Amino acid sequence: MKRTPIIAGNWKMNNTLAESAALIEALKNAGNKNNAEIIVAPSFTSLAKVAELAKGSSLQVSAQDVHWEDKGAFTSAVSPVQAKDAGATHTILGHSERRSVFGDTDEILNKKVAAALRHNLTIIFCVGETLEQREANETIAVINSQIENGLKGFTAEQLKGLIIAYEPVWAIGTGKTATPDQAQEVHAAIRATLAKLYNEDFAQATRILYGGSVKDTNVDEIMAKPDVDGALVGGQALIAEKFARIINFN
Ligand code: PGA
Repeated sequence: MKRTPIIAGNWKMNNTLAESAALIEALKNAGNKNNAEIIVAPSFTSLAKVAELAKGSSLQVSAQDVHWEDKGAFTSAVSPVQAKDAGATHTILGHSERRSVFGDTDEILNKKVAAALRHNLTIIFCVGETLEQREANETIAVINSQIENGLKGFTAEQLKGLIIAYEPVWAIGTGKTATPDQAQEVHAAIRATLAKLYNEDFAQATRILYGGSVKDTNVDEIMAKPDVDGALVGGQALIAEKFARIINFN
């Protein structure tokens, strides 16, 4: 099945307003030879501005996370209503930094999934194993349980359009990338899990991105794998020329 590729940039806790504006302006001229969907996830202070500047271009804007409630006494949190209002069409959920630094559990993520679906935000749902789990041969089991528990209670129909990002924790920001074969193996396993939990059509339609030290120099070989439908990029998404090269992968 032909799936439209997705190249997504997670800006994390980086960029002032001026830096965000300069980056999005540069990306408008990056070209898009694979007709990929291009998504950027700025931090909340820049989100509205980036969405404004992206208007009229094919660039889409994502939140990096949202709270599970629509509003209320949750100091520092941002709700899906607010993210949407600022111009986000997508939200990342379950990034490993959210899981490990901020304590997002499968149970919390399940509530965030509900909140994002309630407001029609397309979810980029991140999963991935630690090095310890990989070495203990637990990779697939860990990822299956993250998917099963995080997405619990929703049908394929409700989850239509879901994007999954496989990001081995040991590869994020470390310069260590999974080999294309390692990525393919896990992506194929995720697709099989989606077929089992939902159905084959849903599994075939769902885009599965690889993330973890994706660079201009390794994107081509990763994207060549049949079950890799795109990339979620951190560090190199902050550098216009590097991200442009990743968008225009061969
Ligand atoms: P990285 O981050 O590309 O800097 O490894 C990827 C991510 O965390 O999404």
